[in-house]
Amino acid sequence: MESTLTARDRVGVQDFVLLENYTSEAAFIENLRRRFGEKLIYTYIGSVLVSVNPYKDLEIYSKAHMERYRGVSFYEISPHIYAVSDNTYRAMRTERRDQCILISGESGAGKTEASKKILQYYATTCPVTDHMSTIRDRLLQSNPVLEAFGNAKTLRNDNSSRFGKYMDVQFDFRGAPIGGHILNYLLEKSRVVHQNHGERNFHIFYQLLEGGEQDQLSKLGLERNAQKYHYLVKGCCPRVSSINDKSDWKTVRKALTVIGFHEEEVEDLLNIIASVLHLGNTQFGEGEDGETQITTESHLTYLSKLLGVDGPALREALTHKKLTAKGEEMIGPLSFEQAVAARDALAKAVYGRAFTWLVAKINQSLAFKDEVYNSSKGSSSVIGLLDIYGFEVFQHNSFEQFCINYCNEKLQQLFIKLTLKSEQEEYEAEGITWEPVKYFDNKIICDLVEEKHKGFISILDEECLRPGEPSDISFLEKLEDTLGGHAHFVTHKLANGKTRKAVGREEFRLIHYAGEVNYTVNGFLDKNTDLLYRNLKEVICQSDNQILSQCFHREEVTTQKRPETAATQFKNSLAKLIEILMSKEPSYVRCIKPNDAKQSGRFDEALVRHQVKYLGLMENLRVRRAGFAYRRRYEAFLQRYKSLCPGTWPNWQGRLADGVATLVQHLGYKAEEYKLGKTKIFIRFPKTLFTTEDALEARRPALALTLQTSWRGYRERAKYHRIRNAVLVIQSAWRGMKSRRKARRRRHAAEIIRKFIKGFIYRHYERCPENEYFLDHQRFSFLMTLVRNPPKSVLDKSWPVPPPSLTEASEHLCRLCMQNMMRAYCRRIQPEWKKQMEQKVVASQIFQDQKDSYPQSVPKLFVASRLDSEEFNLKVIQTLGNDKVKYGVAVTKYDRRGYKARPRQLLLTSSFAVLVAEAKLKQRIDYTALRSISVSSLTDGFMVLHVPSEDNKQKSDVVLQCDHVIEVVTKLATMADKKNKVNISQDSIKFAVARGKEAVIDFTSGPELKVAKGKKGHLLVTAPQLNPR
Ligand SMILES: Nc1ncnc2c1ncn2[C@@H]1O[C@H](COP(=O)(O)OP(=O)(O)O)[C@@H](O)[C@H]1O
Ligand SMILES: [Mg+2]
Repeated sequence: MESTLTARDRVGVQDFVLLENYTSEAAFIENLRRRFGEKLIYTYIGSVLVSVNPYKDLEIYSKAHMERYRGVSFYEISPHIYAVSDNTYRAMRTERRDQCILISGESGAGKTEASKKILQYYATTCPVTDHMSTIRDRLLQSNPVLEAFGNAKTLRNDNSSRFGKYMDVQFDFRGAPIGGHILNYLLEKSRVVHQNHGERNFHIFYQLLEGGEQDQLSKLGLERNAQKYHYLVKGCCPRVSSINDKSDWKTVRKALTVIGFHEEEVEDLLNIIASVLHLGNTQFGEGEDGETQITTESHLTYLSKLLGVDGPALREALTHKKLTAKGEEMIGPLSFEQAVAARDALAKAVYGRAFTWLVAKINQSLAFKDEVYNSSKGSSSVIGLLDIYGFEVFQHNSFEQFCINYCNEKLQQLFIKLTLKSEQEEYEAEGITWEPVKYFDNKIICDLVEEKHKGFISILDEECLRPGEPSDISFLEKLEDTLGGHAHFVTHKLANGKTRKAVGREEFRLIHYAGEVNYTVNGFLDKNTDLLYRNLKEVICQSDNQILSQCFHREEVTTQKRPETAATQFKNSLAKLIEILMSKEPSYVRCIKPNDAKQSGRFDEALVRHQVKYLGLMENLRVRRAGFAYRRRYEAFLQRYKSLCPGTWPNWQGRLADGVATLVQHLGYKAEEYKLGKTKIFIRFPKTLFTTEDALEARRPALALTLQTSWRGYRERAKYHRIRNAVLVIQSAWRGMKSRRKARRRRHAAEIIRKFIKGFIYRHYERCPENEYFLDHQRFSFLMTLVRNPPKSVLDKSWPVPPPSLTEASEHLCRLCMQNMMRAYCRRIQPEWKKQMEQKVVASQIFQDQKDSYPQSVPKLFVASRLDSEEFNLKVIQTLGNDKVKYGVAVTKYDRRGYKARPRQLLLTSSFAVLVAEAKLKQRIDYTALRSISVSSLTDGFMVLHVPSEDNKQKSDVVLQCDHVIEVVTKLATMADKKNKVNISQDSIKFAVARGKEAVIDFTSGPELKVAKGKKGHLLVTAPQLNPR
């Protein structure tokens, strides 16, 4: 597949430079014809692309084709418009220079198609982000809209551009399209009101009528029939087979939305389109008094509605004109012809300005708005696309053809300047041996048209402005007077013989670089002044239609200054265009039309030869063959390729020319491949440069790696230093802070210590500045000690030593604290415990510090009774009757004589105590009779109850021993109310035996309890010593 493709591609030569017989026009055309026959429409002359219109779809514009051309060197692959696009794009990216692609050729040669292909190529292959895809879509969609409003079917081309277009596409530093700008040139407005036979008005009218929805049309007052509109049928061909107005309408409507038109704006635009059609159908007739009047009321009504102006005012403005005579304004009626002219002028003005507005609106939506990018403008580059109306010749040629052809003269001039002239001049300037190539310089024709004072446009302007009755004929005469004798200007009068026949009386002929054209002089003056009556302007200025109010300004009506004529405006805008193009690096696409019948596969040799000739392709080829394909200034060349030679890398120190010589020697350039000029190197073949480029491409990764490594190293080092510095700063700040804090603390501490010492020295003085801190601190610490460590219980008698100043307060506090604790303690006490405590208090009153066993008894609780009720003998209880036993305890009773020990129960009631043995009540001791109770001071359990012996009822003193002596004595003393009658004797107790007789118990301390009879009949009790007092 690939091989057949390339084999086919190799029909003839792909680059005319390779043509053997390169000076032969026949060989040139034969090469074109052979390739065209194989549907190979593209061929190069060096870097210039020659394109022959195939008039059919070739299927060479798919996405896959785009990919094939992307980033591939020019010469490696068959010629294509995409190769030019890609090459330009890469040149912009690598050299950072603005580029432009100039597409030239006569009407119908394929310029517009080529420009669209280029734009599509960029839209598809350039990197885009989401945001940028909007711009990309808008760039693409601006085409159908501008074509609808600015293109029309002509005899030469079914989609002929009737305006000039220069479009800038702006790319950011990554090569993504980020914005665009369109400049438009002179729209052929006359087409709005008139078309030659076989031609149409602008597409939009037919599209609206065919594709617009029914209710939309009714709203606009339109019928779906182009035949009904005078402005659409002048050329008698409202329908064209190659055009589908209905689907085109859909495309345009969608495109308007994509570009960002609001619904109201579209509505205003359609109102203007419809109003032009209504204007065309507005007819005039004669009134009763012979005045001109409008006979088609319905159209007028629609007009006032659609244009958003006052109906009566519009009617008056269409049939009258305002004159200023001697400073006074007067209104005068228009003749029938004048009224028709005024109407047509209005239609043209309204359409023409709406078109300009449309371009401005599209520009707004394409404008690159990002402020960040805008501030770094240097990083974005531009590719300009010039698609302007091509050279054209019709049966009748008028002012518009004159402008169009003049424009083509200028562009040819630019081409000559940039490719033929300057190139040859450059060789000479650089001292390269050179045989000059002859070519036709069309400057003479440009001068003929635009020269100051004596050029065509100057004469035209002069004639338009001069007082008197200037007319197209008087203008023709003036031309003959001034330009007569010029080799490129002929009129009927000036010509002779054969030529005379070919030029009509009202015509003049210009011999353009591309051929002779006869222009009809009729209408030149009117079209140049582009007159719209002032009162019509005034009416439109008041319009409610937003677009019209933006297009027609009040100042226009009030100003006295004459506006620039159409020709001068055009001349100036062309001069600006040339300036723009000169500032950019150009690439060329030269379009050729193979036949006049728009037929595919037909190659009209004569027609092609003519174009090859006037496009200067042969000269172009000769210069290219003899010359050098590329040239670079030494510094640029060295800068770009120095990395390919060790001698020049990384820097060349000597003369630039020597550096370049070293470099190319290293690269192995052969002598015939290049020449060294004064400031530039000239490279003869593209291939040489491409090979060098490839070498650079191959070297790039290594360079990138070196750059990356050193850059990363540098970055990391910088980062490290930054971090280190930051750490140091933080550290020193932190350390500083810490030290300052420490110093502050120390200072504070020293101050405190100093104060403390001083205070200590002065502590006995009255309160004074020297000791106040100390005293306060003392007080404070005393109070804090109390707070932190208060006495834990009522028994805890610890209390910190107060400073002298707080002695009194301390006492108060201590008391309060005790009271508090006691109150709290008392509140907590239960009744039984109270009773217990009362008893314990009594015990302490009696025994504390008196009896050795007392301390041990303190923690042992007193009980209600040591004997349970079961242990009581029932008989005894009955005997006691009402006297309830309140306490019972087992005791040992010692006989008064012989000291025999007998077990007994001692029972206490509320008024007496009894001793019980078994069921027998042995002895009753009334409390009233109880004289006293004696116990020893030792640990023994002996007690003696003293009762009066005279009392017969009562037996004598009782000697008892019991384990709970403290409890028993306490209870007994309490019940008998004999607390004061308890005697505690140190070593002996005397007791009455009977009738005045006494016995003695002796007490001694010993290792264990022992009861024995002692000397003198005493009872000897040895009590164990517990803790010596
Ligand atoms: N590359 C092409 N492939 C197919 N048809 C083409 C091509 N170039 C031009 N044409 C045909 O020729 C017609 C005229 O081309 P256009 O670009 O409008 O001419 P110009 O702008 O030069 O007047 C187009 O409508 C299209 O039908
Ligand atoms: Mg075109």
